[in-house]
Amino acid sequence: MKKIGVIGCGNIAETYFRSQEYFNNINFICCADINESVAKKCADQYSIKYQTVEELLNNDEVEIVLNITIPQAHYNVTKKTLLSGKHSYCEKPLSITFDQGKELVDLAKKNKLYLGNAPDTFLGGGGQLSRKFIDEGKIGNVILGQFIFGFPGVETFHHNPDSWYQEGGGPVRDMGPYFFTMLVHLLGPAKNVRGRGIKIKDHRVIEKGPRKNEKINVETPTSYMASLEFHNGTIIQFLLSFDIINHQQNHMELYGTKGSIIVPDPNMFGGPVMISNDQGGLWKEYSTEEMFIGKTNIFNHSGRSNEASKQSNYRGVGLSEMIKAIENKKINRCNGELALHVLDIIESIINASKNANQIDLRTTCLKPIPLTEEEISLIIK
Ligand SMILES: NC(=O)c1ccc[n+]([C@@H]2O[C@H](COP(=O)([O-])OP(=O)(O)OC[C@H]3O[C@@H](n4cnc5c(N)ncnc54)[C@H](O)[C@@H]3O)[C@@H](O)[C@H]2O)c1
Repeated sequence: MKKIGVIGCGNIAETYFRSQEYFNNINFICCADINESVAKKCADQYSIKYQTVEELLNNDEVEIVLNITIPQAHYNVTKKTLLSGKHSYCEKPLSITFDQGKELVDLAKKNKLYLGNAPDTFLGGGGQLSRKFIDEGKIGNVILGQFIFGFPGVETFHHNPDSWYQEGGGPVRDMGPYFFTMLVHLLGPAKNVRGRGIKIKDHRVIEKGPRKNEKINVETPTSYMASLEFHNGTIIQFLLSFDIINHQQNHMELYGTKGSIIVPDPNMFGGPVMISNDQGGLWKEYSTEEMFIGKTNIFNHSGRSNEASKQSNYRGVGLSEMIKAIENKKINRCNGELALHVLDIIESIINASKNANQIDLRTTCLKPIPLTEEEISLIIK
């Protein structure tokens, strides 16, 4: 069990506080936010201590800081955390620029501190079962694939969607991490990217909350079509968009020399995984309901295209796994090198889309080691 301070008390905070119910080593003791009132409300709601950001960073009791601020603030908050001698676990992406992300990875290494980063969804039943089948050769060598994330935009549900449309926002930074991290987990590191991006509207209108009907500026492309080549030779094409009203495609399909696999939603933790080995043949369904973090625990619909109403959300497993890694002096799965490689992919896609060229990636990383049910049994309640 580690004592954790939370910085950033917005939309996703509730999901992380819920992780204490699932995992046995997460213990939030205080929270802070630049917005004092939301931090005080959060402290009240979860019966923990309210502190200013500086007080929390100077609190000797806090061993790990969970940084769930907006992406544009990730770098500053993580840097201050590492400089204050505490381990950091941050929401995705690691930072909004590669250079800043690299600085954080180097700083953590220099100060001998753990740097953990979401997404941790690839640790779920869907990601782990897909990995097992691919490693077993059930579809042969993976050669091609595609994925899609498309919905009409964050303003449809989020009360403060501004940062998603400002410089440093956009769908590649927001949703790309789930898909890229899943692919690196399944296929190993990527080699190069090509892309194109487009901004459809100059303004968006907030649809929910106290600022309903308020217009916000759009400063970033909101749809990207791009492709990735992996070191193992696989080529993946994809669409990431805040401009799609509805669609009916699978989240992710990979095609191998002996068959095809439908990988379940990389933004969530469950299944099922589908496999077919015959042209035009049936798809065999493999459930994840018997897996510790594959079983359904959410029963309401988010309203997003292609997102099941019943699903598995165990956000926080990456933090819990990092705590176990600290105790056992092992490398955490959601580590800085993986997050930096994903950030490299993100920034390179955005740049390749601006300049209509192919960009070779600067980084590589280790393929994460599969997370066994036995290991999960040690951290789950
Ligand atoms: N909302 C979701 O569904 C969702 C899902 C998964 C991941 N995430 C990720 O979680 C993070 C937070 O998302 P959110 O939806 O909760 O955002 P949000 O805007 O609702 O909340 C962010 C909070 O961070 C605070 N903040 C901003 N800069 C700060 C700083 N420098 N110091 C201290 N506090 C600061 C803001 O005041 C706000 O309360 C993002 O990285 C996002 O990508 C969000």
